[in-house]
Amino acid sequence: MTKLIIGNWKMNGSQALVASMVESIKSVINQTSSSVQVVVCPPFPYLGVLKQAIGDANIGIGAQNVHTQLSGAFTGEISVGILKDWQTTHCLVGHSERRSLFGETDQLVQEKTKLLLDHEIKPVICVGETLEQRESGQHESTVTQQLKVALKGLSSSELERSVVAYEPVWAIGTGKTASEEQANQMHIVIRKTLEEHATPDLAKSVMILYGGSVNAKNAGSLLQQSDIDGCLVGGASLKPEDFSQIIQAGL
Ligand code: PGA
Repeated sequence: MTKLIIGNWKMNGSQALVASMVESIKSVINQTSSSVQVVVCPPFPYLGVLKQAIGDANIGIGAQNVHTQLSGAFTGEISVGILKDWQTTHCLVGHSERRSLFGETDQLVQEKTKLLLDHEIKPVICVGETLEQRESGQHESTVTQQLKVALKGLSSSELERSVVAYEPVWAIGTGKTASEEQANQMHIVIRKTLEEHATPDLAKSVMILYGGSVNAKNAGSLLQQSDIDGCLVGGASLKPEDFSQIIQAGL
């Protein structure tokens, strides 16, 4: 199955980085018949430069967030229509930083997920437990609950177009990656939750990404796990060399 590698730049980057990153990605994916789909999520102002740099190469354009309203007096926000105008293909929803720093609830994640699907942008639904939740044995129930709310009311075809990213909060930006076994085990739990919403075949076709301190060294072993279909990469997606190596690990 094709792997999906998404780079989340968060509030970092520059026009120069867009240019060098796209060149670097193109040189990797050109060498192969691409069994890896790559998506870059820069800050909003760079979506246009990114689109231009990509040209007709097979690289997806990702956003980091979207507002639930279609337009209007929402200073500082970005609508789904604006994302569509820049040919955005994917959009992160419910990243743990959005949840913890900007108060995003499971309910809001569900609304954004549905809105994006209605406008044919793939939502990348981020779920994950805190260290406290893991240490008290609540990691599986936390993630299952986050996912169940996010998927509420989705049809099978909507589910098929959705991506799930498992990002344990304690592994994000900390240099502490979940072990391959810990990550894969949670991906299996997520797959089972998807089966409650769809047939096993359809649940199998939904991409489940791992995120949290993915780097050029650990990407290969993570991507070899049975239920890890790709990676959501933060810090290492800002370094063209490292990000290219992560893409290569999925080829
Ligand atoms: P990280 O971030 O790779 O820097 O841990 C991942 C993410 O927040 O998506």
